Amino acid sequence: MSRVVYVNGRFVPHGQAAVHVEDRGYQLADGVYEVWAVLGGKLADASGHFERLARSLSELSITPPMERAPLEVLLRETIRRNHVREGLVYLQVTRGVAPRDHAFPAPHTPPSVVITAKRVDRAAADARAERGGAVITVPENRWGRCDIKTVGLLPNVLAKQKARAAGAVEAWFVDELGLVTEGASSNAWIIDKTGVLRTRDTQANILRGVTRKTLLQILAREGMRIEERPFTLEEAREAKEAFITGAGTLLLPVVSIDGKPIGGGTVGPVAKRLRRLYIEEARRTAV
Ligand code: PDD
Repeated sequence: MSRVVYVNGRFVPHGQAAVHVEDRGYQLADGVYEVWAVLGGKLADASGHFERLARSLSELSITPPMERAPLEVLLRETIRRNHVREGLVYLQVTRGVAPRDHAFPAPHTPPSVVITAKRVDRAAADARAERGGAVITVPENRWGRCDIKTVGLLPNVLAKQKARAAGAVEAWFVDELGLVTEGASSNAWIIDKTGVLRTRDTQANILRGVTRKTLLQILAREGMRIEERPFTLEEAREAKEAFITGAGTLLLPVVSIDGKPIGGGTVGPVAKRLRRLYIEEARRTAV
């Protein structure tokens, strides 16, 4: 099935989809993005991602390319044209095309918009979640505004590649205090040795994960013990269970950190149950 990409007002074949060489996203990483999970052909956690997109754009003073409603139409159309039932839809907005200059271009410069959609083999993803995955740790070396979902992802790229080379699914950044901040493309969670669910608070320099937020609501509803408070790598090593959340993996149990088994080294019952609860909720509320 041939893939189609939305680029600045047109749907074009995937192989021909391109932006200008002086697009500020390409030259300066001057842009933001969002990723929605597509569940049953619908957008998961739709509003959370639109709200974060608006915030990322506003923090960088990039003019929103359009209102939510027409943008939503374009996301749906990209999903439809690519026949995606289970997968991901990716949106990128940059400050547009202009002669290279670090400072902002003329105010009327239109932002660039790209949308791609791809399928995920949900059965394979579910099977992987049954087995759980390994994480490695890397020193936190990112900039101070990880709350903005920018396309400036080089430290994340290098961390993820290191994980991949080690046969791991994710890399966790660990700051100079020994605290786990988040993953290269996910938020990090543990169930500590006292049985409390822990994930870092969003006052810290991390992305305000939409999956994280929805899961927190589910946990509150379930009456589970939860603390939004950082945890050290040491605490993670001693944890009963660990897992990651994000639009890419939804919720993936972690079975080892830097080669050392977590809990029994197999997927724990809580992470397994929470994955099911999150996916049920996300499917129920997808639009
Ligand atoms: N990544 N932290 C980072 C650094 C991320 O890049 C992501 C998402 C998350 C989880 O956020 P959410 O639950 O809103 O997806 C946390 C996306 C999936 C990506 O870069 O592909």
